[in-house]
Amino acid sequence: MKLMKITMAATLLSAVLATPVIAETTLRISLQLPLKHHLGQNLLDFKQQVETASKGDLKIEIYPSAQLYKDNAVLKALKLNSVQMAAPSFSKFGKIVPQLALFDLPFLFKDIDQLHRVQDGEVGQKLKGLVYKKGFVALNFWDNHFKQLSSSGKALITPADAKGQKFRIMSSKVLEAQFQAVGANPQMMPFSEVYSGLQQGVIDGQENTLSNIYTKKFYEVQKHLSITNHGYLGYLVVMSKKFWDKLPKDLKSNVAQAMNEATTEERKLAQELNDSQFALIEEYAKKTGRLEIHKLSEAQIDQWRQAVSKIYPEFYSDKKIGEDLIKAAIATK
Ligand code: SIN
Repeated sequence: MKLMKITMAATLLSAVLATPVIAETTLRISLQLPLKHHLGQNLLDFKQQVETASKGDLKIEIYPSAQLYKDNAVLKALKLNSVQMAAPSFSKFGKIVPQLALFDLPFLFKDIDQLHRVQDGEVGQKLKGLVYKKGFVALNFWDNHFKQLSSSGKALITPADAKGQKFRIMSSKVLEAQFQAVGANPQMMPFSEVYSGLQQGVIDGQENTLSNIYTKKFYEVQKHLSITNHGYLGYLVVMSKKFWDKLPKDLKSNVAQAMNEATTEERKLAQELNDSQFALIEEYAKKTGRLEIHKLSEAQIDQWRQAVSKIYPEFYSDKKIGEDLIKAAIATK
């Protein structure tokens, strides 16, 4: 009897030792924006979905407000797998995948629906392939929305008003050319320094979406806001290829499924927040009288379009964006 007990215990022990220990995997996400921004909210949903679907085998940690990496520094970290996922804006890929600057070209897209068709179609696939070649896995394109112009210098009604004003830009050759086309001075600056740059007058103005202008409180330190919808700001959700390649098949499928659902939600949320946060900026302007909002007419917007869209041919080289890609985006129905 005693011998039988010992044998059973030994069998149990060897069975336990033989069972591979399933190590819980942690995926760390670095985010530029605060958690209250729609991107943060959406990543929280993504986290919950993945953790539930993987029954906790894949744990997700989100680090918001650039607390881990600022601007394009995150791309180096992703390459090294020091962080596993991020959603940098397209401009941040500047030197690595210059073709993504397609989305920076002013007035290139008819509206947000056509832009989504570009992202979800052949052009988007081609861009994801270029990103993969550089050692990142492009999961999906996420929206912020269209950008507006703000300044504490002259109100920006026609392109001539921008002349001589200093505008903060992200690190993008397209954005540099866009402001130079109207005789303005573009200054590259990290997102986290824009508020103080505007407050201290280091720069006169900036371009951003209404939701970034609201969440980063840029409206507090600007006198004029012009509704131009001249350019687009979006993000490429990317994963470290080193991490992705080692991820078991079932966890890859949990991530892919949650990402598809999160993308649909993200697009809705981005639109809703840009609308609702514009209403809050308008309320602030009315209440304080410290900000003038200029809703430009179609004719005025057309003047901006004429002035800045002439930069497209500068980016026809394949080392930049490429003529084919630009023309394919324009031709997308
Ligand atoms: C972001 O939305 O992640 C930053 C945009 C910017 O740098 O203006």
